[in-house]
Amino acid sequence: MCGIVGYVGPRSAATVVVEGLRRMEYRGYDSAGVAVVADGRISLRKKAGKLANLEAELAAEALPDSRQGLGHTRWATHGAPTDVNAHPHLSYNGRVALVHNGIIENHAALREELEADGVRFVSETDSEAAAHLLGRAVERNPSLLDAMREVCGRLQGAFTLVAFDLAQPGRIVAARRNSPLVVGVGQGEAFVASDVASFIGYTKEAIELGQDQVVEITADSVTALTFTGEPAVVRPYAIAWDLSAAEKGGYDWFMRKEIYEQPKAAADTLLGRIGPDGTLCLDEMRIDPAVLRLADKVIIVACGTAYHAGLIAKYAIEHWTRIPCEVEIASEFRYRDPIVTRTTIVVTISQSGETADTLMAIRHAREQQAPVVAICNTNGSSIPRESDAVLYTRAGPEIGVASTKGFTTQIIACYLLGLYLAQERGLKYGDEIRQIVAELSALPAQMEQVLAKLAEVGDLARELADAPSVLFIGRHVGYPVALEGALKLKEISYLHAEGFAAGELKHGPIALVEPGLPIFAVVPPQGRDQLHDKVISNIQEVRSRGARTIVLAEEGDVEAVPYADHVISLPVVSTLFQPLVAIIPLQFFACEIATLNGHDVDQPRNLAKSVTVE
Ligand code: G6P
Repeated sequence: MCGIVGYVGPRSAATVVVEGLRRMEYRGYDSAGVAVVADGRISLRKKAGKLANLEAELAAEALPDSRQGLGHTRWATHGAPTDVNAHPHLSYNGRVALVHNGIIENHAALREELEADGVRFVSETDSEAAAHLLGRAVERNPSLLDAMREVCGRLQGAFTLVAFDLAQPGRIVAARRNSPLVVGVGQGEAFVASDVASFIGYTKEAIELGQDQVVEITADSVTALTFTGEPAVVRPYAIAWDLSAAEKGGYDWFMRKEIYEQPKAAADTLLGRIGPDGTLCLDEMRIDPAVLRLADKVIIVACGTAYHAGLIAKYAIEHWTRIPCEVEIASEFRYRDPIVTRTTIVVTISQSGETADTLMAIRHAREQQAPVVAICNTNGSSIPRESDAVLYTRAGPEIGVASTKGFTTQIIACYLLGLYLAQERGLKYGDEIRQIVAELSALPAQMEQVLAKLAEVGDLARELADAPSVLFIGRHVGYPVALEGALKLKEISYLHAEGFAAGELKHGPIALVEPGLPIFAVVPPQGRDQLHDKVISNIQEVRSRGARTIVLAEEGDVEAVPYADHVISLPVVSTLFQPLVAIIPLQFFACEIATLNGHDVDQPRNLAKSVTVE
């Protein structure tokens, strides 16, 4: 959600900035803009719609060659996605160009104050107020950093700001509160951006800024201060992946590439976390083991797909640890006055580490003094920074808006956490853990088996491409899989899709069933007799009412076959691990349907990859 880039260096600034914006397209946006300084003037182009519109504008009227520029992809919050509301915004005196990610909550009061001073606003955005404030601040403050600090002191809400002052060429200033910002340090050039993906082609040296910090970059310097003016403590790090990880590598969509990357992502997430004797060593778990032993409740908070991973994790955590585990949508959590104490472990799951709802939920948990463990895919992002411990999923960059490898690695990390809790609390013997760990370790190869058979799912998608509605059912861990299967289809195919607990069908949803309605059913492994047979009965119930049943069942499950119009066979795994193989055909099905219907799979309408506003 909103991508920001700033560049100072010897290359063509407009080219670097537009390329950086392109690499952050996945974050979701509906307008884009770029500004450069050349010949003592600020030149600006901005356009509603996709980057292609901005590029067409630039082709028609190129920006002057420049060594300094900034750009923005905007996901509209205040004001429609129009050319005028697109960023960058200029200050009233023409000195400052500024881009903003986040929401300035006191923008109305600031606008009123500035208008009373004679400033004329041209857009409906909250962001424009920050541009005017900085324009005013640079007139009386010779230091760009101090001027930016002054502006930050006036703003309430969440913001990343990047700006330059025409009167101080060769410098870009940026600020960060509650929204992401990283600095890239190259040879004689420097970058600021929402995401390292935007500059990974130029440098792997990054600096992670902390909360409430401002930074000024020139071609050969980086200076960071806190909002209160002290030298800031920042964290330099080397980016672990390269440009190819952020490119499609021959696939039509990032999402499809990421579906196929799941075995590797799963294996990487397990790497180094299992000792030679089968015990778990989660080095990142900096929480005192005594705290883990005393815990009497686990609450998982997350949004979207990460929430579904949490729903699955609940079954495993409760089964292995016997600690009650609640799972809550992050945006609901703090508003219901949840019962959270020092003995509640709050587990937060987030691929991006920047989801504002999740961030606010963990802040609330920490105010109640609960220990917070983050499961996250983005090194150094806000959520792990603000947590007591972090277990990174090692999925690599996930670019497709619809999360795939993010989801499966989140389940694996949650399982590692559950097992670790059981191990630390002495609830599982070494050989039990070893056996579970052996099953986990076998999963990447089993995921490969599923990937090898996806052509059949492609054929099925071609048959069902015109279906107006699709249902998904499952029980136990199969129920969140049904929810996630439906979410994938909604997100990228814009089809009506719902996931239901199979046993709940008869209490209402079965009324939706009419002849020909496709229903995907996730059948538990045969070992779980009762559960297995109950789902088979549920499949019969819908089939006898005319539904077209697509049954996901383990290989050799002959009982499921008679009630299936289509069978998708899954490798034989234990119940708790079945989601990791069962979700893959559902992800692929959604990707195929969206492709067949001509949708942009990686950038679905209205959605953002990283939702940095509440
Ligand atoms: C957005 C994305 C979803 C994602 C959710 C949570 O809504 O579109 O795909 O599941 O945010 O994101 P997170 O980065 O916190 O896992």
